[in-house]
Amino acid sequence: METTLIIVKPDGVQRGLIGRIVSRFEDKGLQITGMKLTKIPMSLAETHYEAHKAKKFYPGLVRFMTSSPVVVLAVRGINAIAICRKMMGATFGSNAEPGTIRGDFGVSNSFNLIHGSDSPEAAKRELELFFAPGEVLAWDWCSIGWTYDAAEEKF
Ligand code: RTP
Ligand code: MG
Repeated sequence: METTLIIVKPDGVQRGLIGRIVSRFEDKGLQITGMKLTKIPMSLAETHYEAHKAKKFYPGLVRFMTSSPVVVLAVRGINAIAICRKMMGATFGSNAEPGTIRGDFGVSNSFNLIHGSDSPEAAKRELELFFAPGEVLAWDWCSIGWTYDAAEEKF
C-alpha cells in the first residue's frame, strides 16, 4: 500500500472541478485518507516545488499555486503513486491523452488542474509538508476486499 499527495490546483477549484477530480480516484478504487481546502502560503509553495527553483517558470508556478484555494488529498492504494500519475496525464492538457484528468478537463499550457507526487520519496516528503500529524486517517475501508485481488479467496 502507498499513500500519495494529490493537489487540486487553483484552476481546478475555481472551475468547480473538485468533485469530479476526487471522484476519479474514488471510482478507480483508491481510498481518500486525507482531504482539506486550504490556501497555500508562499513559503510552502516554494518548498514544495524547490526542485524547480532554477527553472524559468518557477516564480509563475509559485504565484499560481498561491493565487487561490486548493484541495490537498492523501490518496491510498496498492501502487497509488504510479496509478495517480497515469490518471493525471501529461503535464499540460494541451497534449495530455483523453481519458486522463488533464486530458479531459484542460487545454491550457500553464494551468494544469492537479499535482501528484512522482515517487515514494516525494510522496513521503510532500505528505509531511501538507498534512499535520493526525490529519491523514487510517480508517477501515469496507470495500477493500471487493476492490483488490482478495475476492477469489472468499469463494
Ligand atoms: P506536478 O509536479 O505539478 O504534479 O506536475 P508534473 O510533475 O507533471 O510537472 P513538473 O515537471 O514537475 O512541473 C511542475 C509544475 O510546473 C509547471 N510547469 N510549467 N511553463 C513550463 O514549461 C512549465 N513546466 C512545468 C506546471 O504547473 C507543472 O505541473
Ligand atoms: Mg512534478
